[in-house]
Amino acid sequence: MTMIVTGGAGFIGSNFIFHMLDKHPDCRVVCLDKLTYAGSLSTLRSVMDNPNFRFVRADICDREAVFGLFEEEHPDIVVNFAAETHVDRSIDDPAIFLKTNILGTQTLMDACRKYGIARFHQVGTDEVYGDLPLDRPDLFFTESTPIRASSPYSASKASADLLAMAYHRTFGLPVTISRCSNNYGPYQFPEKLIPLMIANCLNDKPLPVYGEGINVRDWLYVEDHCRAIDLIIHNGRVGEVYNVGGHNEMRNIDIVKLICKELGKPESLITHVGDRKGHDMRYAIDPAKIHGELGWLPETKFADGIKKTIQWYVNNRGWWQEIISGEYQNYYEKMYGNR
Ligand code: NAD
Ligand code: TYD
Repeated sequence: MTMIVTGGAGFIGSNFIFHMLDKHPDCRVVCLDKLTYAGSLSTLRSVMDNPNFRFVRADICDREAVFGLFEEEHPDIVVNFAAETHVDRSIDDPAIFLKTNILGTQTLMDACRKYGIARFHQVGTDEVYGDLPLDRPDLFFTESTPIRASSPYSASKASADLLAMAYHRTFGLPVTISRCSNNYGPYQFPEKLIPLMIANCLNDKPLPVYGEGINVRDWLYVEDHCRAIDLIIHNGRVGEVYNVGGHNEMRNIDIVKLICKELGKPESLITHVGDRKGHDMRYAIDPAKIHGELGWLPETKFADGIKKTIQWYVNNRGWWQEIISGEYQNYYEKMYGNR
């Protein structure tokens, strides 16, 4: 079996490639990635020499490159992780989000239509459902919760989901969609909350908490997400959406305090900064469908996953220090300089 994994040089895509090569020795994995600021070949170093792995640098919006790769590889399955993913960047400049996340998905699905495919899996986000109020802990996102995206990022992801469903209905493309909550774990780019706070803590820099820090996210260890996608592409029903996550809710401020404690750093590093525009209050997934149909449940508790993640960043300083020493400095100054 041949699988194209787009965005595999990023955080979740790389972890998914490691998972697939490890659990399915019969699977050939072709990674298609543009290597934007968020993708790095150093992340894929450990699999570069694996005979079941091939890396191709290309943009999912580039029709010629995408169709050329399908012509060569005739993949059985495509899993689309490639996207612009950071909410704050989408607030600063939405255009590239619409191009990559919507038109890139369309280009991939057009190639799937032309060459034929057993499955196109779109990796989506729970952010398409908007947010839940903090004073209603009884509410959770289900697959039938209305789409109500808040940010340009989530609106672009919602558009891609709608387009994928339309390609299923109109052209019979065998599509599945997963909508996952916030992931954490190894190789996450240090613009996202957890790796940013770990890196700043280790460098004794201020820890910029947006607003009061009472926003809640439903955290999922990345390996649990990879297992869920593996199950969906093999056993999930075509034309269906599966929510992935559940019952690991944490407030931002409590996560940042926990990171300080684990690293032996003072909470005085915490600095409250201006809030994000349109900041979603709470995300929380009801995983009943994926649990009932596919037997999936998260295995890693937040208390254990965060320890493993912190240890990974301590042990792999070279990986993130290289990132934060480059263009990231300009990004950081722009986002946090006058906040
Ligand atoms: P990431 O930002 O770490 O990585 C994105 C990868 O996509 C990078 O390797 C980048 O080079 C590549 N890419 C970007 N534009 C491309 C293009 N035009 N063509 C080819 N490659 C391109 O992202 P991530 O956190 O690993 O997220 C992966 C997917 O999972 C995304 O679709 C995201 O919306 C979704 N998701 C993420 C989370 C999360 O918590 N990180 C939660 C739910 C869903
Ligand atoms: P993030 O990791 O960007 O994920 P998302 O916005 O997709 O949930 O942010 C997680 C939460 O942490 C979100 O409520 C915003 C907050 N946050 C901070 O308080 N400070 C920061 O520097 C960052 C990056 C995020």
